[in-house]
Amino acid sequence: MSSSQMIPVKTASGMVDFPSDMAVRIEDLSITYKVNVDTKRTLKNAVMRASKGEKVRMRTVDAVQHLNLDIPHGSVLGIVGANGAGKSTLMRSIAGIMPPTEGRIIVNGKISTLLALGVGFNPALSGRDNIVLGGLAAGLTREEIDARTDQIVDFAALPEGFIDMPVRTYSSGMYGRVAFSVAVNMTPDILLLDEALSAGDASFKEKSFKRMRELCEEARTIVIVSHALATVTELCDTAIWLHKGKLIAKGEPEDIVDQYLAFLNVGKLPSSMEDM
Ligand SMILES: Nc1ncnc2c1ncn2[C@@H]1O[C@H](COP(=O)(O)OP(=O)(O)O)[C@@H](O)[C@H]1O
Ligand SMILES: [Mg+2]
Repeated sequence: MSSSQMIPVKTASGMVDFPSDMAVRIEDLSITYKVNVDTKRTLKNAVMRASKGEKVRMRTVDAVQHLNLDIPHGSVLGIVGANGAGKSTLMRSIAGIMPPTEGRIIVNGKISTLLALGVGFNPALSGRDNIVLGGLAAGLTREEIDARTDQIVDFAALPEGFIDMPVRTYSSGMYGRVAFSVAVNMTPDILLLDEALSAGDASFKEKSFKRMRELCEEARTIVIVSHALATVTELCDTAIWLHKGKLIAKGEPEDIVDQYLAFLNVGKLPSSMEDM
């Protein structure tokens, strides 16, 4: 690792001095969702509650709790954890679309994301137009986008004609192919992939995996959330295990995956964490 030098980086709360070899720094991050507990959110219910002087009942979900994490440039980080562990919430907050409830996230570089449930595409526009939007969102110029559109369209390999049809006419598989193709062809500094490899058939999965391996070898910074634990051990150089919003373990992917598997089999957290 080259010795790092401090550079100014823009954050939500102004400029900070930041190590140039660091891609993302997460400081004491907590994210809490407020969920309306009333199942029937009708006007009638609201009026009845108001007339009785009741407040809207809210439940809070602590999706991420006091997380600290450094992601150096050039590292490939895998995130494992059960459903509801906070993986997607963490990815959304690194992507800048979910503001921290507490703490902060400093990002040094251009981010490209492929987040679960296809955040970002406009269903009324064609695949081709969404490629342009995706490129602009990733900070590319129109010329840079035009220069790589063919490559993105080829990679997605949709059935004839679909690339110029509105995205709302796509199957979820087609949608996933275009989204993945956009994300991996933007040459971002930091690439976030949430369950990205679950899109498409076996041959598209193989192609996606190959492309991810290339990106990993190009020494880009990549954060991968995957239920396919083999993806984490094969592609990542570091892994973390999240459970109910907390960081349980961080280290070599093989180690972390072993610990997580032991937890899945036995249902027990490492002994030091039993109170969580
Ligand atoms: N938009 C939301 N509103 C309210 N609660 C949410 C929302 N998104 C996620 N959650 C809750 O936050 C917790 C973490 O969810 P998530 O980040 O999706 O976990 P994972 O991706 O690891 O499955 C869960 O308890 C989930 O129910
Ligand atoms: Mg998720």
